[in-house]
Amino acid sequence: ESTVASRKGSNAPSPPPSVKGIGKKVAKPDYSEQKIVVAMVGLPARGKSYLSNKLMIYLRWLEYDVKVFNVGQLRRTKARQKAQKLGVKENHTAEFFSHSNAQATQSRDKLAEESLEMLIQWLKEGGNVGIHDATNSTKDRRAKIEARLAKEKGMTLIFLESFCDDPATIAANVELKVSQGDPDYKDMSPDEARKDFLRRISEYEKVYETITEPHLSYLRIKNVGEEVTMSRINGYLSSRIAFYLMNLHIRPRNIFFSRHGESQYNVEGKIGGDSLLSSRGMQYAKALPALITDNIGEKPLTVWTSTLKRTIQTAQYLPYTKLTWKSLDELDAGVCDGMTYEEIEQAYPDDYANRDEDKFNYRYRGGESYRDVVVRLEPVIMELERQENILIIGHQAILRCLYAYFHHLPQTDLPYIKIPLHTVIKLTPKAYGCDEERYTLPINAVDTHRPKPKAAKQPSTHSTTQRQYFVEEEIKPLA
Ligand code: F6P
Repeated sequence: ESTVASRKGSNAPSPPPSVKGIGKKVAKPDYSEQKIVVAMVGLPARGKSYLSNKLMIYLRWLEYDVKVFNVGQLRRTKARQKAQKLGVKENHTAEFFSHSNAQATQSRDKLAEESLEMLIQWLKEGGNVGIHDATNSTKDRRAKIEARLAKEKGMTLIFLESFCDDPATIAANVELKVSQGDPDYKDMSPDEARKDFLRRISEYEKVYETITEPHLSYLRIKNVGEEVTMSRINGYLSSRIAFYLMNLHIRPRNIFFSRHGESQYNVEGKIGGDSLLSSRGMQYAKALPALITDNIGEKPLTVWTSTLKRTIQTAQYLPYTKLTWKSLDELDAGVCDGMTYEEIEQAYPDDYANRDEDKFNYRYRGGESYRDVVVRLEPVIMELERQENILIIGHQAILRCLYAYFHHLPQTDLPYIKIPLHTVIKLTPKAYGCDEERYTLPINAVDTHRPKPKAAKQPSTHSTTQRQYFVEEEIKPLA
């Protein structure tokens, strides 16, 4: 450990002799005991799918195995199969959702049950959190779910109601459904689709009962971010889920990411340390305020930096409130801190190869892995969800982790995301995902991105613009 201490921040480290087998591959945490059913509650167009999706992304980012079981999707798959078999047209019009239609009501109940069975089965096979994405909008339906789960050992049931009485949000959700090519409406004009969907909503409204059952575990979220009622939430993961959902809001805002200006260590090709900015880095710091104020106008903004000098220096001319976070400090390279990649390859050839092989899991001796960084960034994510306009002046590895959360990118891609110097990334959270714009200032800087070696498995390609978040996964009905 004394080597670690003396190496940190030193200017010209002499690499120690080659050591075999140092630097560990860190395993995924064991969450096998965690079994939670999150049953959604709420009328159509109230943002249930938005909440399920956000929750899934957050928990998956923390490496829980999460899956959304969407009853509408199961209904469509089954209807398609039936229509093909009988040679008839699929029917997903509002009549099917009317509670006075006894046969349809029975079919819908059966679908919800089947989807729950699939979810339970999946939990038994090793899943951690199954989200039952259905309306579950009557006491009777919720009682059935409760009774079914009572037969299973070790499964926790939480209801999550998305209640919304804001006409603008409801209208926007209806338009999203109509305009995003919802499969239910693929054969209708937007006008017909809108009319039919509004009729479907009114059918549900006739029988809808908001959740109040005192014996149930539930969270009732009103107009995402406005009001939360919580009842009987116990245990670590359930509380964590509740805390996350309580912090969400859907007010329009921007999140900006920028790395610090080019540092002296960047110029020398060294990693880590706490060096100052290079002269080009200082130019970036001076140019940054104009770019940000042009973008944000009169709106309030808070700037977050790490505790390292290069981020604080980069933020120095920004006329906004600033906050320093220890959690935003760069990935700790342990004994390799202050070395160049070439020096690391020479001194620790095995480590160097191991890192290339599995960069997300590789932990520097006396330092961190990307996985460790993801864990330490959790409070930052939570606070980012609560806040409005934020600019983070951060570091390469840190911004990769945050970026991967907002764009829902897989672990294998995360350590290779391109976050160049002297570039501002502007994210605009939308109903499903984030829009992105990048602004590069015309101030040269070194390129610190190391591509994945050709021999190793390549990261998947993804575009950095808007993504479609709701891709219907292939599902196999039980019967
Ligand atoms: O090179 C700049 C830097 O921020 C280093 O301080 C850090 O170790 C490195 O990037 C992280 O990037 P990578 O994980 O690709 O080595």
